[in-house]
Amino acid sequence: MITGKFPSLRLRRNRKSDWSRRLVEENNLTPNDFILPIFLIDGKNKKQAIKSMPDVYRYTLDKISFVVDKAIKKGLPMIALFPYTEKNKKNDLGTEALNENNLVCKAIQLIKKKFKNEIGIMCDVALDPYTSHGHDGLFKSGYVLNDETIKVLINQSLLQAQMGCDVLAPSDMMDGRIGKIRKALDKENFKNVQILSYAAKYASSFYGPFRDAIGSKNSFKGDKKTYQMDFKNSDEALREISLDIKEGADIVMVKPGMPYLDIIKSIKEKFKIPVFAYQVSGEYSLLSNGIKNELVNKNIVFESLMAFKRAGANAIISYYADRLDKIL
Ligand code: PBG
Repeated sequence: MITGKFPSLRLRRNRKSDWSRRLVEENNLTPNDFILPIFLIDGKNKKQAIKSMPDVYRYTLDKISFVVDKAIKKGLPMIALFPYTEKNKKNDLGTEALNENNLVCKAIQLIKKKFKNEIGIMCDVALDPYTSHGHDGLFKSGYVLNDETIKVLINQSLLQAQMGCDVLAPSDMMDGRIGKIRKALDKENFKNVQILSYAAKYASSFYGPFRDAIGSKNSFKGDKKTYQMDFKNSDEALREISLDIKEGADIVMVKPGMPYLDIIKSIKEKFKIPVFAYQVSGEYSLLSNGIKNELVNKNIVFESLMAFKRAGANAIISYYADRLDKIL
């Protein structure tokens, strides 16, 4: 690798001018690398602030066209829809997930009708926005039931596919759900609906502000350690990823993002499959609040997003995706 030594070799030579640095740069970011999460809420004409996430809002359906139109104009390839569910629509079984008039279903239909295939729509497959206990699946005696939950997730997947969702993103971490969902989609002739598996999803305290955003903060007690991964582990992430690939995932995701760059890198090196990273709500809050400190500036956002690219992420889900013109 090393072709000479000092003083004939000087690595600073390539760095001395801006044009030279531009020529030798190894990574870059464009809007094509980003997915914008959008929070939905019931009602009319509302753009509701989320306390723990500066500059992120929940929108009512009548405001959605405006948000999506902006995303398209900024060149984003995909949006991700997340519903804030009113308490009276939640129950133990999360049945609102299977209501064809729920917020996500209505939003998919509205967006597809208006914008056709100009932008991709991704939807989570998991029950946590809809359950009164806030867990991602059916909860019994302190445990989230695996196989019983998958049955509901299959129906949630089929419903969202039927509404026009392009990319289903199981974020529940049940064992075996990717294979079962793929099989059901194929059987119902949704062969081209993609599966983006939250394959290496850690039980993380970085999700706090998101749970506030979707309204599960108060109902959720405890943790998700019996199904999401232990952040002490990395070999286990490779096992999770390899299983999801075998079961038919088109794309795999690592979540959270910045504290898990090692995981992104080893997955990319080992599997040569599209890998996405989720810069989650806690990372967003920390960065955004940090920027208010006069010694920190928005360039740190750019620097941290570039780190995802350098680690090997093909795309990033980021709450900054609607402000890339100010960041990149
Ligand atoms: C739901 C889900 C979560 C996030 C995305 N989908 C939270 C959780 O698992 O508790 C977190 C996203 C974020 O923090 O930005 N399964």
